[in-house]
Amino acid sequence: MDYITVALPKGKLFQRSVELLDKVGYSADNVTEDSRKLVISNEDSKVRFIITKTVDLPTYVEYGAADIGIIGKDVLLEERKDVYELLDLKYGRCRLMLAVPEQMQRPRLTDYAHLRVATKYPNCAQEYFRSLGIQTEIIKLNGSIELGPMVGLSELIVDIVETGRTLKENKLVEVDSIYTATARLIANRVSFKLKFDRLDKLVRDLRKVLDEEEEQCK
Ligand code: PRP
Repeated sequence: MDYITVALPKGKLFQRSVELLDKVGYSADNVTEDSRKLVISNEDSKVRFIITKTVDLPTYVEYGAADIGIIGKDVLLEERKDVYELLDLKYGRCRLMLAVPEQMQRPRLTDYAHLRVATKYPNCAQEYFRSLGIQTEIIKLNGSIELGPMVGLSELIVDIVETGRTLKENKLVEVDSIYTATARLIANRVSFKLKFDRLDKLVRDLRKVLDEEEEQCK
């Protein structure tokens, strides 16, 4: 009860999240992505870290296995877990977009109706096409989405773009942007009430660090 358990996602957000939390006193020895230890505790500051697969992180927080976590808004929108979103951490900026192979580009979005779409984000993709009134077949994949059109699994992809490198390397072009996402601090609903003082301080401290960093960049 006196510990704060923090879930960190493996992958692109990991390093920056560890560095940011360290600046507000949330740190422990050997918090690395490839750590064999799945739970890393700091007895002095009463913080415990768990390192999870990105897509599972909101589940750990929703069930209270972790009090808080850092995760992309894209995963939150897709997974739709019942958690509090406490703070936009502003890093890890990326976009969810609709892309097609260069030679498949068509003049209007409605021209893509009745095609197959490979994606890691079936809920977001479904909602997007529904809002446009376009019927498509959504094919759920867990990674390497770009492969879909290359091997004839799908004609379209809905995926995250960050630098645009993956799109370019696979000769895909973006035809529509669905939303922009950044990293968020999330909390378990019960933990937020029971551990309010510490979590409220954490949010204020993080906000201060982010503001200072932004000021330095000006
Ligand atoms: C994500 C995404 C793209 C890539 C985009 O994949 O699915 O493939 O990053 O980044 P870029 O615009 O900077 O090239 P991730 O690296 O998470 O791996 P995955 O394809 O196995 O899901």
